[in-house]
Amino acid sequence: MDRPRITIFDTTLRDGEQSPGCSMNVQEKLRLAQQLDRLGVDVIEAGFPIASDGDFEAVQRISALVRRPIIAGLARACKGDIDRAWQALQGAARPRIHVFLATSDIHLKYKLRISREQCLEQARESVRHAKSLCADVEFSPEDATRTEVSFLCQVVEAVIAAGATTVNIPDTVGYSMPQEYGQLIRTLREKVAGIENVTISTHCHNDLGLAVANSLAGVQEGARQVECTINGIGERAGNASLEEIAMAMRVRRDRYPYETGIASEHIYPSSQMLAEITRVPVQPNKAITGRNAFAHEAGIHQDGVLKNPLTYEIMTPQSVGVPDSRLVLGKHSGRHALALRCEQLGHPFERRELDEVYRKFVVLADRIKKVQDIHLLELIEEVKAAGKKIPPAGAGLPFTRAASAAGGTNETHSLSFPAPVPGGASPGVPVAVGDHHGEQEDYLWGV
Ligand code: KIV
Ligand code: ZN
Repeated sequence: MDRPRITIFDTTLRDGEQSPGCSMNVQEKLRLAQQLDRLGVDVIEAGFPIASDGDFEAVQRISALVRRPIIAGLARACKGDIDRAWQALQGAARPRIHVFLATSDIHLKYKLRISREQCLEQARESVRHAKSLCADVEFSPEDATRTEVSFLCQVVEAVIAAGATTVNIPDTVGYSMPQEYGQLIRTLREKVAGIENVTISTHCHNDLGLAVANSLAGVQEGARQVECTINGIGERAGNASLEEIAMAMRVRRDRYPYETGIASEHIYPSSQMLAEITRVPVQPNKAITGRNAFAHEAGIHQDGVLKNPLTYEIMTPQSVGVPDSRLVLGKHSGRHALALRCEQLGHPFERRELDEVYRKFVVLADRIKKVQDIHLLELIEEVKAAGKKIPPAGAGLPFTRAASAAGGTNETHSLSFPAPVPGGASPGVPVAVGDHHGEQEDYLWGV
């Protein structure tokens, strides 16, 4: 069965760039726009052309260079802004003018100092003008979620009649709750004449940490475009995060039976590129793109993930372009994860040697929070240097991920190795693992 397609409107280069410390120059924007193209976004909001010459140039050059997605330019609801946006979009294969005007009483009274009637008229007129230039016109009633609902319906109906093709409903100040935001979309669909002919869009800010939840609630009520940014950057607490929206829909298809055009393996590279360009690092525990998103420190988790990643991972790191699942070695780590890391560093250990490495590792991990590869290599050197003094182990088999996956108690097991490990031994040979450090201890370290 065909699933409804959700348009992913990326505003990293416009709303995202409004984050403190996230401004980008033209070259940087061009680089990121090409990456967004690879990522598969449907719309790139390339900038706000009236805001500066740099923004104008960025929109102009992205329009010329990036041909597949729609390129949108933002404009306030006035002729000068709209004309400037249109000028910047001239070379675009698929241009869109995005017009916005605040509609909440609080904005009308204190910011714009206009009446509701004036607002309605300005919205209608500006969309009419944009439509005379460009077939694809989006309108956003800024602060929609704090706008009196019947007035919001009036404005939305007027801009649709004037030619808007997408109506975006911004939760500008991140005030809405998911149920409330979903209900607002439902009300618009029920009450506004002509709404069935346009795309309803979400644009949620994250002031209460609900931007993604609100966007998904909007989609469930019929919104078919989501505005979002890489790493969730944007004004104040940011916008809905693109990677969270895309992966929520992918991982929970059962709840969100929709499709997006996102090529998820480009998510992590896009996130890294943005962080590199802006020099704003991704928060370590950020969902999907944070460095801890696929890291497992507790021994119990490491052991589970090594046996089967499904135990603690709901998506593979590879599916979002993370090169490898990283096991963080710290004081809660078990011998299983330590053995794997040593092996990855080119040092497969037999059981007795691993015990020695593990003992030293535990002492070190108690002192420093995170044991990095460099520390581990030093430690391995120490153990190897003292190695001659270590009596040879019974069977002399390396303790590997595959070995441990085959059994985990203090008993003798017949281990089956799917493939020989570097420097390892032959498959199917029994090994004694019953000394004082057993798998049980791994478990305890993880508690
Ligand atoms: O948050 C907002 O209201 C906006 C509009 C310009 C769409 O960014
Ligand atoms: Zn915004």
